Amino acid sequence: MDILRVSGELPDRIKDILFVPFEDGNQAVTRLELVEEGKLAGFAAFSTEGPVERLEMLYVLPEYRRRGFAMKVMAEIANFGEAQGCRLLTADFLHSMEDMEEFLLSCGFTIMGSTPVFAFPFSGFIENEYLRKNLFDRKLPGHTKCFSELSREEMSAALGLLSKNGYDVSRLGSASFNRALSFCAWQKNTLQGVIVCFGFGKDVIIEYFTGHDGAVFQLALLFRELLKVVNGENHEGGSFLISGENRPAVSLMQNLLKKEPERGDLIVHGYLEL
Ligand SMILES: CC(C)(COP(=O)(O)OP(=O)(O)OC[C@H]1O[C@@H](n2cnc3c(N)ncnc32)[C@H](O)[C@@H]1OP(=O)(O)O)[C@@H](O)C(=O)NCCC(=O)NCCS
Repeated sequence: MDILRVSGELPDRIKDILFVPFEDGNQAVTRLELVEEGKLAGFAAFSTEGPVERLEMLYVLPEYRRRGFAMKVMAEIANFGEAQGCRLLTADFLHSMEDMEEFLLSCGFTIMGSTPVFAFPFSGFIENEYLRKNLFDRKLPGHTKCFSELSREEMSAALGLLSKNGYDVSRLGSASFNRALSFCAWQKNTLQGVIVCFGFGKDVIIEYFTGHDGAVFQLALLFRELLKVVNGENHEGGSFLISGENRPAVSLMQNLLKKEPERGDLIVHGYLEL
């Protein structure tokens, strides 16, 4: 099995599983393709920041599993981190991915704990009276911008708003914003709100979702952009998933949708000392 460093478009088979728009030239995340006899067998991505290396993604296609491929790529990733001076390799994964937990335990990872995930199913959201009134029948003030379109000043305003609202943005740079579905709402040159999320299967994981008090229409506007992307990708009928740690985002979403979240999966946090 060969491990290739790659950039640019994701292979189609991986795109079916994950629709995160990884961008070319993204320096923050290193992507690896696992190739067996010329065929794609899996995919991995990791990032490093100071003493911490983070496993962003690991996927081995079902027909190539239990042949030691993931173990081999993890050894490469850990060696890379160690050579960069990292002390810790961390991985977060969904509890429902039982194979991932078994695999990480067999690599020597320690499980630190877990966080519940709240789910807001989005099938039929467009029919929802509140959203219909507030998102689609009104001419909303302000405008939204994709993060990739932001100037340096706008980007730092977005980071400022997130950290002011209690989000840990230490891991976030423009590159990680660009690879997510991320939007900002503005009104009169003032930033009103931010959404950063990742697509996973038919669901959308909301990583950051915040806004100034009273900016509900601007947030609704962001939300409309998000729905456009989600619907454009034919991923109707999934859920917006928000980590229970992200209390402000859960209550914002609750208010915006006038709907209680469902208790979903758990995010499990693991680490390996390098
Ligand atoms: C978890 C995963 C990466 C493992 O890949 P893999 O190439 O099959 O793993 P390896 O062959 O290197 O396994 C090494 C060891 O891990 C453990 N392991 C791996 N998969 C396991 C499973 N399903 N059950 C129990 N133990 C497992 C075993 O100890 C295994 O050694 P063994 O085969 O000698 O018993 C793969 O199953 C996968 O991609 N699952 C889907 C994960 C996913 O959804 N990722 C996307 C979000 S990040």
